Amino acid sequence: MTNLLSDTEMTSQQREYTETIRRSAESLLLLINDVLDFSKVEARKLIFETIDFNIQETIEGSLELLAETAQGKNIELAGFVLADVPTQLRGDPGRLRQVFVNLVSNAVKFTEYGEVVVSVANLAETETHVDLRFEVRDTGIGIPAEVQTRLFQVFSQGGQFHHAQVRRHRPGPGHFQAV
Ligand SMILES: Nc1ncnc2c1ncn2[C@@H]1O[C@H](COP(=O)(O)OP(=O)(O)OP(=O)(O)O)[C@@H](O)[C@H]1O
Ligand SMILES: [Mg+2]
Repeated sequence: MTNLLSDTEMTSQQREYTETIRRSAESLLLLINDVLDFSKVEARKLIFETIDFNIQETIEGSLELLAETAQGKNIELAGFVLADVPTQLRGDPGRLRQVFVNLVSNAVKFTEYGEVVVSVANLAETETHVDLRFEVRDTGIGIPAEVQTRLFQVFSQGGQFHHAQVRRHRPGPGHFQAV
């Protein structure tokens, strides 16, 4: 509906407000989808797709989503898939993108200066399977070591792990997350 509204005659202020409504609706939708995914994971009902995809395209596409935000903050956002990673894979690129975008958007969000660099490396390979390591490195505030141990605890316990807790620490060298 906001798209239809944008096609009508509006003042620039109205256009701006409409854009804000559209963005808010989009982020609300994302939030709802994340919560739904969460319930699926909890109920062990999350089903992965098995389709052919190109890892290079998936990574590039994910970074494109965040390029504007990074540019707006004057942060360099770079990514590379190492040469020995097989490009044509079979799996669930949608889920991969979801996890990856989450990590990279955190990196961009919590970095005020410098860069966010992502890379994909080949850890092990057999005839039919490949183990990949996705690295997201940033030069932002980082996460204190004692908080890192709580990073992968579920939502319900994650409440104690609050933003302010991290923000209190002085900016340090970037941390490193691996999936
Ligand atoms: N790259 C990072 N650098 C510093 N702190 C981070 C980074 N990634 C995550 N964190 C910390 O972990 C917390 C949890 O991350 P999470 O993505 O769940 O929430 P969020 O980014 O604050 O909010 P949301 O993702 O819902 O918009 C963050 O609030 C932040 O304190
Ligand atoms: Mg986040």
